[in-house]
Amino acid sequence: MYRIYSAHRALRRMDAAEWKGALPPLTREFEGEALIETEELHMQNRLLHGGDYNPDQWLNNPKILADDIQLMQKVKANAFSVGIFAWSALEPEEGVFEFGWLDKIMDDIASFGGKVILATPSAARPNWMAQKYPEVLRVNARREKMLFGGRHNHCFSSPIYREKTALINRKLAERYKNHNALLMWHISNEFGGECHCALCRENFRQWLEIKYKHISTLNDAYWTAFWSHKYNDFSQVEPPSPIGEDGVHGLTLDWRRFVSDQTIDFYRSEIAPIKEITPDIPITTNFMGEIAPPHIYPHPFAGLDYAKFAKEVDVISWDAYPPWHNDFETTEFLASKLAFLNDYFRALKGKPFLILESTPSAVNWHPINKAKRPGMHLLSAIACLAHGADAIMYFQWRKSRGSSEKFHGAVVDHDNSPNNRVFKDVQQLGEILEKISEIKDSKTPAKIALLYDVEIFWVLDDVQGFNRNDKKYTETLLKHYRVFWGRNIPIDVVTKDKDLSSYDLVIAPMVYMLDEAFSLSLRSYVEGGGTLVSTYVSGIVNETDLVYPGAFSPTLREIFGINVLETDTLYPTDRNGIILESGKEYAAFDYCAVIEAEKSEVLGTYKDDFYKGSPAFTCNHFGNGRAYFIAARTDSDFLEDFYATLVQNEIPITASRGVSVQIRQNDMFKYYFVMNFTEEEKEVTIQQDMEDIITQQTIAAGKHSVKPYGVFILKTRS
Ligand code: GLA
Ligand code: ZN
Repeated sequence: MYRIYSAHRALRRMDAAEWKGALPPLTREFEGEALIETEELHMQNRLLHGGDYNPDQWLNNPKILADDIQLMQKVKANAFSVGIFAWSALEPEEGVFEFGWLDKIMDDIASFGGKVILATPSAARPNWMAQKYPEVLRVNARREKMLFGGRHNHCFSSPIYREKTALINRKLAERYKNHNALLMWHISNEFGGECHCALCRENFRQWLEIKYKHISTLNDAYWTAFWSHKYNDFSQVEPPSPIGEDGVHGLTLDWRRFVSDQTIDFYRSEIAPIKEITPDIPITTNFMGEIAPPHIYPHPFAGLDYAKFAKEVDVISWDAYPPWHNDFETTEFLASKLAFLNDYFRALKGKPFLILESTPSAVNWHPINKAKRPGMHLLSAIACLAHGADAIMYFQWRKSRGSSEKFHGAVVDHDNSPNNRVFKDVQQLGEILEKISEIKDSKTPAKIALLYDVEIFWVLDDVQGFNRNDKKYTETLLKHYRVFWGRNIPIDVVTKDKDLSSYDLVIAPMVYMLDEAFSLSLRSYVEGGGTLVSTYVSGIVNETDLVYPGAFSPTLREIFGINVLETDTLYPTDRNGIILESGKEYAAFDYCAVIEAEKSEVLGTYKDDFYKGSPAFTCNHFGNGRAYFIAARTDSDFLEDFYATLVQNEIPITASRGVSVQIRQNDMFKYYFVMNFTEEEKEVTIQQDMEDIITQQTIAAGKHSVKPYGVFILKTRS
């Protein structure tokens, strides 16, 4: 069995194109000729383990740098993001470049077979640049010019900043294009934020002019006759501001779109020289996911439209910082939030992704920064691998001695020792990652899609109405998501540009805003035989936030065979109910859409109030598919029962609550990741003998206990 798989892997290694998205061959001059060095073949099949490495903070301490190289090998680390904030070390004065230190780091890492995810330094600019070219600094929404300081504080429009960034990126690419250590590019760091300087405002106006052409079209799209906010020409348009316009929702929406586009445009200017000089080296940039307070419900960072950004990167990566062991949710609940984000980042490209940052212990920026308890380091890493990660990287390799992140968790602590608990946890994970490297590149076979749309997130934030401050969009998505996660059914969290045709079931809750393209995508999906589920607060406005006639999208009306007459918003303690044909009742609360079943079948009706007896849950046969409409917000019991009628789970492992089983597979094998996200011992039943690839032991069919935070990775033939 093993032999066959090795042969299969060897075949895959030969396919350089296949590896474009992960690890390029060492000897690139032989690319395409299948002459790849043995060491490199080995590397190509490794899960990445390592993290942000900031040797530029320790250049006056060669002993520390030498220790790093030793310690890296001890934890089986093989990849490092280097140079993320190193601009002042790389270009200490304008036009004076110093690469000697980086040459040595690259060489030292290469010396033990390690790789570098080489960063461009644009996420923090040097002082000399801000002093000489103040235009590189941002202006905030109150139109206040920022001073030098912090990071992520640059204007994305500034020609000087673009020029300086392109120059240093070109120099980095030229210098390291043939270096053995160069594995991937790490562009900037956690792109985000916005600038309201004169140049950015002007660019926004031009962006609008291209989009709307005539100011009257923009006026119509934004409904600016309201409060006499009509524009006479584009020069009058100002980005939203707390000291100016903040109530024209179409404007706010376009500004957010522009900020996304402008950031991506800046990113494009960053990668231009890199693509030119190293066309075969994959590019990533670290995305973010919100999973810690104040964000109780998870969602991707909402400052950018990652669906658009994803198209520009070769490999998706994100930074995951779940607040384990907190006092406001169970470990199981937090694990489902992490899973939601992993399923989102994986689905962006439908491919494995990288956890580019995570912490080996605690962070420093959560309200309470608690250390990971024994077992959690391994479990939290496996929790990401189980959902498609091919890398577990850390912020940070070594704790800094000063400044704001000196107490942020790191592989190497202030004791500079390999003997502390955290270091040993990392070492244990490094050893395990080597053992389980065969999972690399395996896929998640999701047939269910749950829609998350950042634009809906944006507009629901603005909407004045319904529950003014608490629409619960992300909470609702997680509620639907948890039904599948809890039943160990793989699911993709998708964006609206995704081709839906490969899914058996598409769930699109609270699609408040619906554009033409997405309406048509949903229509053809159902017509083609798909099953679609949507809910209350859907299809209300178009892509510029104008309400559809009748406040319900004509396309949804057709697909669901219903019309929405009104949406009743309830006080949090109000309760209505949905009564199914069977007589079974479920609570309905928060939102009750009053609907008319024009063509659809009525599966449930309201229990109370002036719409008592009217449809609350419907199914429409449309084309070859079906479309279900859940008109009121319900609890998980309703969703559990309803989705159980649509989807069955067929995995050969049953687990008690709190134990998650996730699957990845390749042509040869299926890998079941069994993870106990509770503080108690739990039981699983396995229907056939399987190999645990962590311990390399056979786990016989039957009942097995999984210790608190325990994991198995069980393998069977595909
Ligand atoms: C982010 C940044 C890192 C570091 C970590 C701390 O992810 O990218 O530079 O500040 O947060 O958790
Ligand atoms: Zn600007």
